[in-house]
Amino acid sequence: MKILLTGNRGLICQAVEKKLVGNGHQVVGFDLVDGHDIRDQAAVIKAGKGYEAVVHLAALLGNDEIESAEEITRTNLLGTWNVLESARINGCRKVVFMSSVDALGIFKGEGVPDYFPIDDDLPCKPTTPYAISKKLAEEMCCSFSSTNDIPTICLRPPGVWNEQTYFHIVENRRQRPEYEWDPYWEYGAFIDVRDLADIVVRCLETEFNGYGCYLVASDDITTSGRTTAELARMVFPQVKWKTQADYEREPYRSLLDCHRAKETFGWKPQFSWKKFLDAHGYGS
Ligand SMILES: NC(=O)c1ccc[n+]([C@@H]2O[C@H](COP(=O)([O-])OP(=O)(O)OC[C@H]3O[C@@H](n4cnc5c(N)ncnc54)[C@H](O)[C@@H]3O)[C@@H](O)[C@H]2O)c1
Repeated sequence: MKILLTGNRGLICQAVEKKLVGNGHQVVGFDLVDGHDIRDQAAVIKAGKGYEAVVHLAALLGNDEIESAEEITRTNLLGTWNVLESARINGCRKVVFMSSVDALGIFKGEGVPDYFPIDDDLPCKPTTPYAISKKLAEEMCCSFSSTNDIPTICLRPPGVWNEQTYFHIVENRRQRPEYEWDPYWEYGAFIDVRDLADIVVRCLETEFNGYGCYLVASDDITTSGRTTAELARMVFPQVKWKTQADYEREPYRSLLDCHRAKETFGWKPQFSWKKFLDAHGYGS
């Protein structure tokens, strides 16, 4: 398949590109670093000519200290609109859009979930420019698929980790144990960039119609020892549980329920916090 990758100079897209090329696909990148701007509709339409699919990752990541609401909105919303227009005009067969768990409005200390475990049905209450941009871009994809008959798949990863991130987390917690939940707890959620690249490729290679939006995360939580239920009770004692049975059987199970992504795309994360600890002698 010939695939256009926006944001190909970034952390995630580099792993996606590697995996796609390994599977025999032809890819071309589109990134601001190389002078290609997704805010420029004519440029995106020109770049999409002849491509069968788009993986859209280019975005501003919501660093409020250096990015204004206007910049985030223009890049993340106008940019997504331009990518979808390009897909429509060029007769593209599928679009994969990298959203974020931030669309839920409960990460980075933004809000409190209505219930645990966090699943694909949890109501979204985003409040920041970045979180709102991700939620609205998902809506754009949904509306696009219903009017153009081109499938769009949105993925919602939590923090995306490369091999260095695991060590960085261990070191930060060694220096300051509360770092794990203060100033906010990310529900112990993360996804290894290699697992994320794997599901992106599966989204492209699996027969799919219409619109879908999926949580994607590792199977276990990152923790210094407390179980998922202990951490959840400590940080969010007021949040009710739909079910806790799975967490009695698997004490470190992720609070993000990704069963829909797994069933739809035959995906299973290969990397976990436990595997990292065991591999590097941190295990008990
Ligand atoms: N990294 C994470 O933890 C994480 C978590 C959830 C979702 N995401 C999403 O995944 C996607 C990729 O994230 P990443 O971590 O690889 O980020 P990154 O910052 O490493 O890569 C983003 C890329 O987009 C490019 N870009 C920015 N503005 C552009 C523009 N106007 N035109 C063309 N290219 C532009 C940048 O140059 C950069 O190479 C983003 O959409 C992000 O919101 C990331």
